[in-house]
Parts: sequence; structure tokens; C-alpha cells
Amino acid sequence: MTIQLPNHPIRPDVLAAHPTLWTNPSYRPGAINDAKLPVRPEQVEDAQRNWRRLAPLLETCFPELKASGGAIRSELVELQDLSAALGYDGQEFGRQFIKADSHLPVAGSIKARGGVYEVFTFAEQLATKEGLLKEGDDIRRLAESDARAFFSQYTIAVGSTGNLGLSVGIAARALGFKATVHMSSDAKAWKVERLTRLGVQVVQHQADYTTAVENARIVAENDPSIYFVDDEQSQQLFLGYSVAALELADQLRAREIPVDAEHPLFLYLPCGIGGAPGGVAFGAKMVFGDNVHCFFVEPVQSPCALVQLMSGSEDLVSVYDVGLTNKTEADGMAVARMSAFVATVMRNMLAGVFTVADDDLFRWLYLAHSVLGMRLEPSATAALAGPEFVVNHPEGKKFCAGLGIEKHLPKATHILWTTGGSFVPEEQFEGFLTQAAATT
Ligand SMILES: Cc1ncc(COP(=O)(O)O)c(C=O)c1O
Repeated sequence: MTIQLPNHPIRPDVLAAHPTLWTNPSYRPGAINDAKLPVRPEQVEDAQRNWRRLAPLLETCFPELKASGGAIRSELVELQDLSAALGYDGQEFGRQFIKADSHLPVAGSIKARGGVYEVFTFAEQLATKEGLLKEGDDIRRLAESDARAFFSQYTIAVGSTGNLGLSVGIAARALGFKATVHMSSDAKAWKVERLTRLGVQVVQHQADYTTAVENARIVAENDPSIYFVDDEQSQQLFLGYSVAALELADQLRAREIPVDAEHPLFLYLPCGIGGAPGGVAFGAKMVFGDNVHCFFVEPVQSPCALVQLMSGSEDLVSVYDVGLTNKTEADGMAVARMSAFVATVMRNMLAGVFTVADDDLFRWLYLAHSVLGMRLEPSATAALAGPEFVVNHPEGKKFCAGLGIEKHLPKATHILWTTGGSFVPEEQFEGFLTQAAATT
């Protein structure tokens, strides 16, 4: 299939794989309250309650969560010297923070929020249905040996470019489930090795991510002992991610950083299939309403959300349909076709999408390491481009002027969501730095 993107000043950039910004003409205030959406804002609060109920079990399964009482949380880190290194020290750039999901415990990426949530809520439901967990029981019962033996009769399956597989595999094995991860050809060898060491069966497909997910789904459909974490459709994943916005709200409040009509908040969220950034954006819209503006960021060759939303198509379209290759070093974002579920939810809620080139990802990876000492993977650095696009790109300027917020930019807060990297092994990370040196 080939499709035509609508006529637009940025269309040539999209087709030529040049970094660009598309802002959403269907973006409208109050979109989160649309009754036709497949998810409701109250579900974010339900998910927060679920996380809290599961916390003692999480703390039992993962000793690294002791300090946080079982919460899987990340730091909010001010950019400081990185701000000048990125050219964001002018007053028009307001204040900038990194939301360091790259350093989330348990799985070392934003996928800890979705994957762990879905596996643990499934375990709780299954144990309740089968009478293993009764009303009033301590949730930590699910970490006892008879519960593990029970869970070992089931397999959790998932398709992944890497990090979701890590998160689901780690969570599943922690409870005693069997786990199968279907990896796309983009998956990095160290992620495969790490999963294999945990006793996860890894099926490597010589195909892209969409094909890996399709294969995983077919295998699961034919076997009732397999629970399939469906990255293309899962509301559980989406809601698990969404709670991050409540965490961010607490962190901003603790620093007395206002978010209101005169103090806009911008979120920059790396996007693969859209579940993680979509979930966070949905949660953020619930918390901050029309004062938050969420942008997805994608590789220039894999802008599946941009192509989907810009095309205005009700059917799913892929980056191949517009002649792009889906080739990128940012494995977490190497996705050719976005989730239909997320596309529906984001249609009127997403401010826009910008794209980044691989060479820039490596440049930022180097800067984040040398200035802040942060270990990021290429996908995770994509958000660093956000303030420049919003403040200086012609489409960003038009966007701010259209909302009447350009005069408030010096009082704005920008959140650059770094989504993975702390689990990258030393040798692999050295390779990233070498690659970065070669591109600068
Ligand atoms: C580091 C990183 N960032 C961002 C994403 C994008 O998440 P999603 O595919 O849910 O859009 C991924 C996905 O695996 C990832 O690994």
C-alpha cells in the first residue's frame, strides 16, 4: 500500500527523513473527557490504587524497591549544565527537567511501568479467580512457594523490540511464571542474553516488530495456558504507564513549580508503538488538563505516530507506506505501525510529533553522559530535542501563538522523558560512546 500524506509545509521533511515537527490540527481542549474514548480518566486513579495494593508484593519480589516501599519511581532531574550544552539557557526556554525513567528500578526503562503492572495485575486476578488469594489475604502470599508453583503452569508471552520483553520477562520470572519473548530483528543481543539468563524463552524473528507481535499473538491464541501481553491493544500496559503523570505532579508540587495557564508544561515522550508515551500523555492530561502539551518523538525513519495522525486515516498506515525504511539504532522506537488503540485515544489529545536523526541521538547520549553522568540508550535521548522544536521551529512558534502561550514560554516547564539505558552493559555503552565520537 502507498499513501499520500496531506499537503503541508513539513511533508517534504517527513518524506526525506529530515528532522521536523508536526503539530496536530485536531488538538483540542478537554479531549480527555470525550465519552467515546476507549479509556476513562478515572482509570488512571484506579491504576494508582492497584500499584499501591501491589507494592508490598513488588517489594518482596524486588529487594531494590525496599527504599521506595515497593514503588517503581524515577527521579526528576534539573538539566543544569546540560541546558547550556543543548543551547537551552536562553530565558525563552523556561526550566527544563529530565524525567529519568532510564533509571527506573526492576527493568531500567519506562517499560517497567507498563510491563510489571500488567504481569502483576494478571497474577493477582488469576490467583483470585483460582481461589489462591482470598479477600483480606496479604498480597505477599503471591510470592510464596505454592503460589510460584501455581504460576509456573502458565506462560506470559509478549512481542518486543527489547525493553518491553525485558520488563515482562523479569516480572513474570519473579513470580514463577514461564515467559516467552518474541523479539524483532532490531533487538539488541545483550537484551536477549539477559532474558535467556533469567530463564525466559526468547524467539528471535528475522522480521520487524509488528511481525514479531503477530507471531506471538497467533501462538498465544492456540494455547489457554499462555497469557499474551498485547502491546498493540493492551489497556493494562497503557494504564500502568499513565500513573507516571501522578508521580510527576507530586514532584513538581514538591518543587513548587506551578502548572497553569501562565505556566505551561511541555512533555516530550519517545514513541515506538505509542503505548508508553500515550499512557503518560493520557495521565498528564488527566492531571494537568489543557495546561500540559504532550509531544511524541520518533526516529526520522520510523515516525509511525506522525504518519498515522498526519494522514488522518481511520485505517492503520505504516512508515513503509510513505517510503520510509524503519531503520534506526533507536531499537525501542523501531516500530513501523502504531497501536490503533493509542491512535484513537491520542487523536485530539496529542499536541504534536517531532522526529530526530540517529546521529543526534548519539550526540545527546554523549552529552548526557559527559555532563550529567547519565547512562542513556539511543531511544531514550530523543526527548532532548523537544524545547528547540517548540520554541524555535516555525511549526512550534505557530503552535504556541495559536494557543496564546508564546508570551508565557519563559515561565514554562519542559520535561524531557529519558526512557531507558541504565541496564545497558558497560561494553555496549562504550560502543555507543565510540559511535557518538564518530558522528561528532
Ligand atoms: C527506551 C524506550 N523508549 C521508548 C519506547 C517506546 O514505547 P512504546 O513502544 O510503548 O511507544 C520504548 C519501547 O520499547 C523503549 O524501549
